[in-house]
Amino acid sequence: MNLEFVSRLTSSDRDPSRLRSARWFAPDDMRSFGHRSRLKGMGFDDVDFKDRPVVAILNTWSELNTCHSHFKNRADEVRRGILQAGGFPVEVPVMSLGEMLMKPTTMLYRNLLAMEVEEVLRCHPIDAAVLMGGCDKTVPAMLMGAISADIPSIFFPAGPMLKARWKNVTLGSGSDAWKYWDERLAGNLCDKDWKGIENCIGRSAGTCMTMGTASTMACVTEAMGMSLPGAACTPSVVADHSRLATLTGRHAVEMAWANWKPSDILDEKSIDNGVMTSLAIGGSTNAIVHLIAIAGRLEQTLTLERFDELSQTTPVLADIRPGGQFLMEDFFDAGGLPALLNRMQDLLHADSKTVLGGTLGEQVADCDVIDDQVIRTRENPVSEAGGTCVLRGNLAPSGCVIKALAANPDLLSHRGPAVVFDNYPDMKARIHDPELDVTSDSVIILRSAGPLGAPGFPEWGMLPIPKKLLQEGIRDMVRISDARMSGTSYGTCVLHIAPESAAGGPLALVRTGDMIEIDVPKRRIHWDVDEDEAARRKAEIKLPDVVPPRGYGQLYAKHVTQADVGCDFDFLTGRSPGEEPGIH
Ligand code: FES
Ligand code: MG
Repeated sequence: MNLEFVSRLTSSDRDPSRLRSARWFAPDDMRSFGHRSRLKGMGFDDVDFKDRPVVAILNTWSELNTCHSHFKNRADEVRRGILQAGGFPVEVPVMSLGEMLMKPTTMLYRNLLAMEVEEVLRCHPIDAAVLMGGCDKTVPAMLMGAISADIPSIFFPAGPMLKARWKNVTLGSGSDAWKYWDERLAGNLCDKDWKGIENCIGRSAGTCMTMGTASTMACVTEAMGMSLPGAACTPSVVADHSRLATLTGRHAVEMAWANWKPSDILDEKSIDNGVMTSLAIGGSTNAIVHLIAIAGRLEQTLTLERFDELSQTTPVLADIRPGGQFLMEDFFDAGGLPALLNRMQDLLHADSKTVLGGTLGEQVADCDVIDDQVIRTRENPVSEAGGTCVLRGNLAPSGCVIKALAANPDLLSHRGPAVVFDNYPDMKARIHDPELDVTSDSVIILRSAGPLGAPGFPEWGMLPIPKKLLQEGIRDMVRISDARMSGTSYGTCVLHIAPESAAGGPLALVRTGDMIEIDVPKRRIHWDVDEDEAARRKAEIKLPDVVPPRGYGQLYAKHVTQADVGCDFDFLTGRSPGEEPGIH
């Protein structure tokens, strides 16, 4: 990758008195004396920070976040770039959300990290920030916080891990773990082979190297102009990634001088670009929820209808698992996201702004595709349109989604009897019971798995196929839930049913044996029930108490919104532009 640093600033742009941090360091008063003297107590001198932009490196490194294990080194490389450009780097740790080790789900904490980022930016002498994130929820959380604080920010993604090899097979994280688990349940994989896969599927530092939520959101962020071109696909542990870190640091200093804020970059058109990009890469269904929440921070409304409208005109061009064949390293070698965006310039809003100060169109103008198999031509797309679709009907009055790209095409129009599980423990206890009355035509339903019910909206939506059907060779069925699913998951899974069952949605009323229909081409989901019968069940039902007695869980339960409106807290939409809190 050819990374070039081009400054757009003139000398008059570099006016220290205009820096936000000057409000801390410039005045000749007692408080400013305190600010300066304690920096000196750390060993810094005037030359380190006086009249220089303070650039915070917001680092989500943690030994409990497997995907960010290289961030200690990368933070130093970002620091080098900030110093090269004359800034004062400060590394600031913020909460880490690692998918692999957090229970019940990182989604429970996305808004907490967003709040932390917003408040950390507001209350400190920070002129610009490098947002170091990558593993799924860290990306939207950091963007949401930075947008609300509206302080110059540039995102630096962790990058996808290297491709994994097992025997003569290339493995993709997440996706192949599910696939081989099913084979194990079906009796086709011995313990030794299963252990072999465990030993190699996490190949290196970095995020999942399939088109999971992490890579999807990194691509969306780049397309919205909030990270450097090429950032999303650069593998985590190649030298390019280190150089990208340094360049990101240098650009952050530029952005600080120019006071180039998220509100100068992002608007309704950038959100559209993010949506179209998530569709063209065959991205995670989680992107919908995150983009709606991000739009809310910008005081924009992204509806499920708009998402579906764009879905009907956006081709899927990246042939990446789980919807396709290749992995993120192949995408990088094929030219990466800039090359893909170049191929769909006519669909995008090419005049949208980016962190570089120019337009997205300029940024991708000379980026050619190197491998047409990985990044398909417009004449030969992976799918003409409709990679992810929004369905509506009496089972999901506020909508639900399905990643049609990763489903069995034969199941996209289907009618079958429901097999209902009340919650996750119920499903775990009964799904593999040989006595379970289920066939490949059944529609498996899980409820109490939404934002409130689980709580936290976990990625349980790729509901397991009953073992007895796996042994018969069945590998996909229609599955419906108010959960999300991992971006690395696949199958005919209808997700994000809204309103969720715990909020009194119709999903709470469905019983085993009720007939359910999905018709993805017609964007329809239907529960075949007599209206009087539905009303009778509604009168009988007692909804669970989902508000915990104390703590963050209580704040969450009282304020989280439903899936169709982004699951942000109801008091967090909009901005608090750059002002430090309190009286000063
Ligand atoms: Fe971190 Fe997949 S587990 S990106
Ligand atoms: Mg994931």
